[in-house]
Amino acid sequence: MIRSIIVGSGAAKPRNVVTNAELEKRVETSDEWIRQRTGIEQRWIAEDDETTASLGENAARAALKDADLTPDDIDLIILATSTPNNTFPASAVEIQNRLGMTHGAAFDMQAVCSGFVYALTTADAFIQAGQAKRVLVIGSETFSRILDWEDRTTCVLFGDGAGAVVVERGDGVGMSNDRGILTSHLRSDGSHKDKLFVDGGPSTTGTVGHLRMQGRDVFKHAVAMITDVIEDAFSATGLNADDIDWFIPHQANKRIIDASAKKLNIAPEKVVMTVAEHGNTSAASIPQAIDVAVRDGRLKKGDLVLLEAMGGGFTWGAVLVRW
Ligand code: UT7
Repeated sequence: MIRSIIVGSGAAKPRNVVTNAELEKRVETSDEWIRQRTGIEQRWIAEDDETTASLGENAARAALKDADLTPDDIDLIILATSTPNNTFPASAVEIQNRLGMTHGAAFDMQAVCSGFVYALTTADAFIQAGQAKRVLVIGSETFSRILDWEDRTTCVLFGDGAGAVVVERGDGVGMSNDRGILTSHLRSDGSHKDKLFVDGGPSTTGTVGHLRMQGRDVFKHAVAMITDVIEDAFSATGLNADDIDWFIPHQANKRIIDASAKKLNIAPEKVVMTVAEHGNTSAASIPQAIDVAVRDGRLKKGDLVLLEAMGGGFTWGAVLVRW
């Protein structure tokens, strides 16, 4: 059977790091509060010349290099983002142009913090349907542009950055020891829209708007939704927490990640945690964390990896993939 195998990864960060101490000068907050409540110590923030498309391009180039491929080898680009360079065209098309590609297709996917899980699942579906052979899946965000820098309840949480993977059509026998994506589960429930949203948009205010979040409410739902969809992934494959080599969750809050791992009986040493250095980079957080684990030698061929995310919408999802 066809399997969608991840053959390369890459990441990109803006030039500037902003520490919690620097945020103390901007809003009524403290390094201690941010660390205790979220685990975040710093985040990278884009300068004017750094955009979702430029960061995405850099991550894409790094992933292509890692896979020993060129843009000519790619037939589809899916960019997960909620902070595109323009309302349209899709920033994926801008990245396609920056890579010098005029063949194939490119589009954006919008599922906020679950964007990368949605995009990876979509890439798998295109490969399974025979519509693509090699897909560049990118998560790139510049959330700093939609933050209200006077709202301490949100501006301390997010950062900018990008990550990318190359997914390639391969073969498997339909068993859980196949390399590639073994199962994906996507969910959404729009009745939670008002808990995490941006208060602007082309069809309503005509402005870009700012991120608004009822943090406590989001927190309350997060662990239950995350563990629920992961249980679905386990039952679909017959795998369980003991089989997992690495748990690479969306990096919103260390407390949410710890509580989810505990509820699922995933050992703490199997959790890849980057929230301290990156903050919450929304759709970029999982591919950035993947790249950290690949570069430091933790994540190796044959490892079983559990990816999971939850975010605005609400949207949520989980993917089990053998590296
Ligand atoms: O990626 C998409 C998904 N998003 C998330 O997963 C975020 C989920 N939510 C969270 O991570 C947490 O709810 C937060 C980190 C946002 C907040 O943590 P919390 O433990 O839920 O705190 P809280 O909202 O209950 O606020 C506790 C107190 C409040 O003061 P009072 O009302 O108790 O007097 C806040 O006003 O902390 C105050 N506070 C702050 N204090 C210092 C809120 N933000 C700050 C701040 N610095 N930056």
